Amino acid sequence: MLKAEKLKELEAEILADKALPLQESNLVFGEGNIDCDILFIGEAPGKTEDELKRPFVGRSGQLLTKTLGEVGIKREDVYITNIVKRRPPDNRDPLPDEIAAYKPYLTRQIDIIDPKIIVTLGRFSLNYFLPEAKITRDQGKVFIGKKRLLVPAFHPAAALRSTETLNLFKQSLKRLPKIVEKADELLKKDGKPTF
Ligand code: URA
Repeated sequence: MLKAEKLKELEAEILADKALPLQESNLVFGEGNIDCDILFIGEAPGKTEDELKRPFVGRSGQLLTKTLGEVGIKREDVYITNIVKRRPPDNRDPLPDEIAAYKPYLTRQIDIIDPKIIVTLGRFSLNYFLPEAKITRDQGKVFIGKKRLLVPAFHPAAALRSTETLNLFKQSLKRLPKIVEKADELLKKDGKPTF
């Protein structure tokens, strides 16, 4: 089966799974180039994302899209999704149970897309993959996994609140084209089995 068909099937399965939490919100499955090198993973959809059923299209999404452009990456060339695929009410943080409920689907989504690099946006996404990591300490580093690299970045919503965070967010994204170039070489090293 083709990648696109597998993703369509996965999306249909999520829609049919009425046991998943946050049923009152729309499903925001993810979008972008399914043959991408880089997969961006955020936290959970916000209000605008819920309305438009698209990831990262509100204020923080606009900053992400703009910053990608500034570092020479087209939004259409990457894939963007979230760990929790429906909006928590009042923009509250996703709960551990919600993250766990969507996990099997995110795992399959990552396997199907099979990117070389995962960029986590914010601490929830970072700690999903590396529970011991700290966003302020580890953002901008490159972690080597068995199958892919993991590059933690600040969440663009945090970058909207602080100039210092904005600069660090931009620096992390600016390194991505070089990391893509070096990805195959880095992946020959024996990485963590986690991602
Ligand atoms: N914040 C996220 O983490 N994800 C989105 O899709 C939008 C805002």
